[in-house]
Amino acid sequence: MIRFLPSSLAGRTGLFLMIALMIVQVAGLTIHALDRVDLQRLVEAREISSRTVGLWRTMLLAPTERRAGILAELDMPPGLEAELADWPAVRPGMPPPPPSLIRLLRVDALIAGPARFRPSELLVGGRPALGEMIASLRLPDGEWLNLRVSLPPPRPWHSETFLAAFVLMTFAAMILIFWATRRLIRPVRELARAADRLGRDVNAPPMPENGPAEVATAARAFNTMAARIRRYVGDRTQMLAAMSHDLRTPITRLRLRAEFLDDDEQRRKMLADLDDMEAMVNATLSFARDDSADEPSVWVDLAALVRTVLDDAADAAPDKAENISYAGPERLTVRARPLVLKRALANLIGNALNYGNAAHARLEAPHGGVVRLYIEDEGPGIPPESLEAVFQPFRRLETSRNRETGGTGLGLPIARNIIRAHGGDVVLKNGVSKGLVAVVTLPA
Ligand SMILES: Nc1ncnc2c1ncn2[C@@H]1O[C@H](COP(=O)(O)OP(=O)(O)O)[C@@H](O)[C@H]1O
Ligand SMILES: [Mg+2]
Repeated sequence: MIRFLPSSLAGRTGLFLMIALMIVQVAGLTIHALDRVDLQRLVEAREISSRTVGLWRTMLLAPTERRAGILAELDMPPGLEAELADWPAVRPGMPPPPPSLIRLLRVDALIAGPARFRPSELLVGGRPALGEMIASLRLPDGEWLNLRVSLPPPRPWHSETFLAAFVLMTFAAMILIFWATRRLIRPVRELARAADRLGRDVNAPPMPENGPAEVATAARAFNTMAARIRRYVGDRTQMLAAMSHDLRTPITRLRLRAEFLDDDEQRRKMLADLDDMEAMVNATLSFARDDSADEPSVWVDLAALVRTVLDDAADAAPDKAENISYAGPERLTVRARPLVLKRALANLIGNALNYGNAAHARLEAPHGGVVRLYIEDEGPGIPPESLEAVFQPFRRLETSRNRETGGTGLGLPIARNIIRAHGGDVVLKNGVSKGLVAVVTLPA
């Protein structure tokens, strides 16, 4: 049952309205048809009874030898048959005619007229099984006029207008319902689209707050929510920036004090720690500044962006240039904030080169509403249990290589933060045989 339901709200509303309307229509047309049947029966019965009286009088006035000829020439209305015979067709013991027929046909009209028109004998019987009434009227010379009366069965559905009306009304209603539901549902679709936009870009323009009262209220609520999210994100970033900024002063002071330490070994270690701290604070600060989210979302050629980052990386590390490659479409536009997205990709590609000695980027054409970018390297990969952990700020494996790569452990969290703000995600996987693969998904 559920399987046959249309998936969209408009489709379902339309379908239910359509079914309801058809039921109402069938009911209405049935009432109409039954009414018509009653009327039709009444008309037929009137016709038959007046024709019967006319027929009787004609027979009565006609000369005996010409009666049969005249009777043959008369055409009878449907439901009335007449014949002349020497015996009455009504047999003794015949059941009475169906009451409905007596009521409709008014047999008494025959005997109600002036005395000279009355039959000398009138027998009435019926065959209820067939819905027939049989009347035998005796003519003055002894001959009988036998009448067989039945009303044709009603055929309320046998009407071209019924079907035509049904089809026409259904069709007209279908167009109206289709149009109306689409119109009614439009705000819902727009709300969904706005929510989707907000998921990709907190700075997406607000929804128009017009239309019917409920729609305007929903749009206002949505815009308020979007503003709160924006403010929340902004406040957090600002706090991060303020904290890292203010930490720099005590670090500088500590560095000055460390210079006064007498123990050379201790001084060297302390200064190294302070260098680390400063690097962390600086990385945090620059991230907080870049990510202040003022950069507008625009259409960006992702293929070109990836190639630019790869080229920059090759320029920075000429000895690894032959281990850098790109595969994928020439052009692929997505909506993005190019500067921050470039920073995210640079972090991933930088990691691949630093820890995996190679960066092979593979961009896939949009599929199911997302584009995928794979960045593969040839290094040792990451133990499975740490694949998620390395996305935490300042989390680094191989601390021994700290100095060598100069990282602070913020590259992956920053990349993920940026890509998620675009409505996408980044995860790490180990390659089939070797190396690490960073899988970036972005909304197409
Ligand atoms: N391609 C990679 N191959 C192996 N290990 C990696 C790779 N990328 C990242 N890692 C590990 O994840 C840690 C965190 O990476 P990241 O957040 O970029 O910080 P950073 O590069 O500054 O150390 C790195 O220190 C490294 O140990
Ligand atoms: Mg890094």
